This record gives sequence, structure tokens and C-alpha cells, in this order.
Amino acid sequence: MTILDGKILADLVQQRVQQEVEELKIRTGKVPGLTVVIAGNDPASQIYVRGKNKTAEKLGIESRVLELDASVSSSELLDTISRLNMDGDVHGILVQMPLPDHLDEWEILDHIDPAKDVDRFHPVNLGMLTLQRTDIYPCTPAGILETLDHYKIDLSGTHAVVLGRSFIVGKPMAAMLTNRNATVTLCHSRTRDLPSILKQADIIVAAIGKPGFVTADMVKDGVVLVDVGINRLDKKEDVLALCDESQIKKFEKKGYGITGDIHKETFAKSSYYTPVPGGIGAMTVAMLMQNTLRLFKKQLHLD
Ligand code: GUN
Repeated sequence: MTILDGKILADLVQQRVQQEVEELKIRTGKVPGLTVVIAGNDPASQIYVRGKNKTAEKLGIESRVLELDASVSSSELLDTISRLNMDGDVHGILVQMPLPDHLDEWEILDHIDPAKDVDRFHPVNLGMLTLQRTDIYPCTPAGILETLDHYKIDLSGTHAVVLGRSFIVGKPMAAMLTNRNATVTLCHSRTRDLPSILKQADIIVAAIGKPGFVTADMVKDGVVLVDVGINRLDKKEDVLALCDESQIKKFEKKGYGITGDIHKETFAKSSYYTPVPGGIGAMTVAMLMQNTLRLFKKQLHLD
């Protein structure tokens, strides 16, 4: 049972990005620019956006956050994106999800210039990914592959089960694992007899936002467990039942604990697992920085 430490690996990726940003600044006089757009005041999104901004600045990336009111109209948001599409100092544009209910997610995401789409959610980029015609991937699945590769976990011929079919994680993850020669089953809320499918899995990627959903009885010995869930628990009995020791201590101080989609007792059956926190979350931010750098290089024809 080896912990796949996302924090250490994220630091390594960030150091690499920082060094290249410095070198390119000397060579070109320019630095990568990332603009994050957030509409409304969803507390979790605000925390993520602040984290992304802080990390970008640390690495020498020119980072801007545009905070728009929750009532922003579709045309105002589209105009904002049009301006960013034309701004030569902006190489990466990220619109934080979820958007307020009155906005049409795809209308907004479709409007981002695919060349500046740092999340890789634009249909053109998701299509290119499926066809194995790009080397820039959505940040969370990219962080997962980077982690598995770093620990030399061979995917070829394995049965990978992905839980959750979102365009942020599940769908691109399934395509990326397929392109790496895994046999992939993509499961979701309507999947029948999920436990029997999970039991066949060599690798499970859980991205459903349900605390402790995957339990020890559902998995086989030696499985690789990748936990993408970041679930906040506010009730003491839930924290005690589902969180690890560090989060139980955190609950005493802050009144909440974090846990993933995989129950803590499941990890004992695994060969490798990603903890929550300290697993994939940090890698997602590191991959965002790497994507920003890659888009910058492409736009300046530096590679
Ligand atoms: N909301 C949750 N994860 C993400 C992400 O990776 N990108 C964006 N834009 N929004 C998110």
C-alpha cells in the first residue's frame, strides 16, 4: 500500500514550470498570462480560484482574476471572454465552474478561443483529446496520468473503471486511459450492479462527489485507487466515520473535515492510493500552470 503523494509531485512540476518561465522571460522578455473568470460567490470556487492565482504568481505567471457578479448576463460574460481572446498578454483563459444557473455553460465555454482554453473543455479540444491529436489535457485527468506515470504504474492492458461522467474529469479521463491502452469502463449514476464492475478493476478513478462511496467490499486486492472527490463534512458523526486522523483533528479546530469518494478503510486493500487531501487536488493546480506555459509557448511559436 503505497501513498501516491500529490503534494511532493506538484512541487516538482511547479519547480519545472517556474524555471522554464524564468528562462523564457530572459529569452523573449515575455511571461505567460493566465486570466481566471469567476461569476458569483460560491465559497469552494473562491477558495480554488485564490489558490490558482497564488500559485501562478509564485511561478512568475502573470495572473489575473476577474470577479463578476452572480447576476452577470450571458452577453456581458461573452464580451469579457471576447476581450480576453483578443488580448495578446493573455495566453490562458479559465472560466471557473459551476456557473450561476441562469448561464448556459456550453455557450460560455464554446466562446473561449480554443488556443487559449487552458482547461481544455472546448469541444474542439475535447475532440482532439479523444482522437489523440493533442498533448495538452484537462487539468485533473492530466494530474492523474502524471501521478501514475511518475510512480511507474503501467496502464497498458489494465481494466480501469472511471466513476463519474463529467466533462471536467470522467469523460476526458476515460478517453485518456483508452489512449494509454487501458480497457475502460465509464460508470455513472444509472450503471447497474456497480459493485461487480468495481470488483474487476485494476485501477479505479472516483470522481462523483459522494463521501466514502467506494467501500472495501467493492474492490479487489492490489487495486490502484485514485480519489478525485473533495467532500466537506460539517457533522461530527460523519467526520468520525469517514475522515482520517488529520481531518478529525482539523474538525476540532475548524468545524469541518475533508474526505474523498473512497472510504478510508478501502485503502488497506490497494497497492497504491491517492489520499484526500494531499493527492490529486494539488496536481490539478500544478497541471493548470503547466498548461498555461504550454499555451504560451504555442502562441509564441517557442516549441
Ligand atoms: N470546477 C471544478 N474543477 C474545475 C476545473 O478544473 N476547471 C474549471 N474551470 N472549473 C472547475
